[in-house]
Amino acid sequence: METRPVIHDGNRLIEAKYRITSRLYDILDYPWERQYRHWRPKLLSDVRGSVIELGVGTGRNLPYYHGDAEVTGVDLSREMLKRATGRSQSSACTFYPVHEDAAAMTSVPTSKFDWLVSTYLCCVMPDQLQPAAIEQFSRVLKPGGRFRLVEMVYSKNPALRRRQELFAPFVETVYGARFDRETLAHVERSAHLQITGTHYLKADVYLVIDGICRK
Ligand SMILES: C[S@@+](CC[C@H](N)C(=O)[O-])C[C@H]1O[C@@H](n2cnc3c(N)ncnc32)[C@H](O)[C@@H]1O
Repeated sequence: METRPVIHDGNRLIEAKYRITSRLYDILDYPWERQYRHWRPKLLSDVRGSVIELGVGTGRNLPYYHGDAEVTGVDLSREMLKRATGRSQSSACTFYPVHEDAAAMTSVPTSKFDWLVSTYLCCVMPDQLQPAAIEQFSRVLKPGGRFRLVEMVYSKNPALRRRQELFAPFVETVYGARFDRETLAHVERSAHLQITGTHYLKADVYLVIDGICRK
């Protein structure tokens, strides 16, 4: 019998949301994915070895991993993981789906991974759970392991921010995502994750946080 993962109470709403959103996720996300698919190959070009991808979703990154990568894909939603497993069949990397809350990961071994990747996960995760999640990130990475997080944030440009504010209710209702999560600040406060660089993929909205695990 499959064991139930430990899920923080604060993430149960997100789990329930994705039970519904999963059915139409790839269709709803298509207008954004048209842009993301140009970024994904570059984001993953140096990612090799034993990789953990958190919030793997429907597996949109999987086709872009190098054939040498062994990817453990973690997701809170069993339905999203099923879709990722389907997509993994036509990907070069090896794929192991794991149904877990990224802020708990009780079944995931310590110091196992060379790389941790997540794209648009922390903008979905409530801020109060992010310190626990980030502690888990450093637990599962090997010493010297690297991480790359991609998040959406509010622009400082007033016109762009107004457009984001228009979209914000839709984005939160459908994906549970918000533009005002404090992920960068949470990572900066981490005892073991050291940021090596940040940059934007587009405007000052799509933020990439790169770093290394020092423990
Ligand atoms: C916006 S989607 C992004 C999917 C994918 N990473 C991509 O780039 O298309 C967020 C994903 O994170 C998952 N998720 C949200 N909170 C999570 C958590 N605490 N632990 C694991 N997965 C989570 C959701 O179920 C969903 O599949």
